[in-house]
Amino acid sequence: MKISVLLLGGAVVVLGVGAAAAALLLHDGVSASATPTRAEAFLARNARLLAMPSNARAMVNPLQPTAENLREARLHFADHCAICHGNDGNGDTMLGRGMYPKPPDLRMANTQNLSDGELFWTIEHGVRFTGMPAFGGHGSTDDSWKLVLFIRHLPQLTAEEGMEMGRYNPKGPEDREEEQDENDFLNGAPAQGTPQPKSSAPPRH
Ligand code: HEC
Repeated sequence: MKISVLLLGGAVVVLGVGAAAAALLLHDGVSASATPTRAEAFLARNARLLAMPSNARAMVNPLQPTAENLREARLHFADHCAICHGNDGNGDTMLGRGMYPKPPDLRMANTQNLSDGELFWTIEHGVRFTGMPAFGGHGSTDDSWKLVLFIRHLPQLTAEEGMEMGRYNPKGPEDREEEQDENDFLNGAPAQGTPQPKSSAPPRH
């Protein structure tokens, strides 16, 4: 009798603590557009860093930030990463805003204070239960190391570099159509949708 009362009491306490923790974590329902609480962000971040193999952190970037390596990485980032992270790494993109957790501003201390190895490992393996995909497994790891160089360069990204990246951002069908119209216009072709001149039609009588 006594034991069952104790067990019941224990179960109530456990359930209560669990409910309180869930309320803390899911403070804003389960919407992905909500902003995580500090407690939640702290837990998620540290769980991720703990899950990383300890030798990953100490890895040294074998590549140098030469102009060529940085340019390659910049265009690669524009093509594969900017859709979530933005060309300047601030994460304020349409996709980024709708994610939970959201992509962090990669220029800020939280990211910049990670070691090269931690950045590399994150790019290669992604982050489970988040929108961050794993980009490794395609043979060479050079691309990921170059991206690490670029992430280090992000706080000093120039306007010209950003504009060049804009030309390498993936384009949807609408952008392509607009671009085609612009090219047609520049090449002297009549813009689509405007009536064709009738001057070439044969006279009626
Ligand atoms: C589909 C969206 C998406 C794409 C594409 C994407 N990321 Fe991410 N990335 C995220 C999200 C979301 C996070 C935050 C994960 C978290 O909270 O742990 C993230 C986190 C990161 C981090 C960790 C930053 C930190 O401070 O912990 C790095 C580094 C990173 N991304 C680099 C890249 C690179 C480089 C690419 C392209 C090769 C890329 N990401 C492509 C969504 C994306």
